[in-house]
Amino acid sequence: MTDSSKIRGNDAGADLIIEGVDGIDPAADEGARRQFRDTLGQFATGVTVMTTLTASGAHVGITVSSFNSLSLDPPLILWSIADTSACHEYFKVGDSFAVNVLAEDQEAVAVNFSKTGNDKFKSVKMLAGLGGIPLIGGCVVYFECCVEARYPGGDHDIIVGRVRRIFNVGKAPLLFHGGALRALGDQVEKIAGI
Ligand SMILES: Cc1cc2nc3c(=O)[nH]c(=O)nc-3n(C[C@H](O)[C@H](O)[C@H](O)COP(=O)(O)O)c2cc1C
Repeated sequence: MTDSSKIRGNDAGADLIIEGVDGIDPAADEGARRQFRDTLGQFATGVTVMTTLTASGAHVGITVSSFNSLSLDPPLILWSIADTSACHEYFKVGDSFAVNVLAEDQEAVAVNFSKTGNDKFKSVKMLAGLGGIPLIGGCVVYFECCVEARYPGGDHDIIVGRVRRIFNVGKAPLLFHGGALRALGDQVEKIAGI
């Protein structure tokens, strides 16, 4: 049985070592901040491109791995955008946008939409979604959304989208893990049906 008096207080567990690994304060210094980034990178995700239009109708797109589900009823999703992104001024509350979930053969699309100043839409096959929002051809699934809320979160803003239409095309997804783009691979077995 755990003695709760031993795990209370600010320093509880401060000298904990897990399987030979020391804990790190992610804000301690530059090295620790890099470790924080690397540690976050161990959380495997899919890869999306968020697309929208400027007020004058120009195409906007950004590669994003921070996408996640938020609510089933109402249907909400979320993601975050860096303050430094050239796309930061778009995706305002009320704006329409689309989540394009990339397929495993769309690595070049992921790289292309992660580069500032690039003509991101140059060699991409486009479809027109709700309100003319650009959809990228060849994706796994699409979520057409409207920005429901936007919240500050450190050096990013959190964007909450209300989903208005979905397309589940059903293809193998592109993955992001350990700073690298990856495919699922046939050797990966389903270990639980969640
Ligand atoms: C796999 C991957 C995932 C990324 N995820 C995010 C993210 O969740 N949020 C974000 O703001 N930037 C993310 N980025 C970085 C942006 O794609 C990139 O900084 C940005 O698009 C640069 O172009 P921009 O200045 O025109 O936005 C990611 C990049 C890659 C390659």
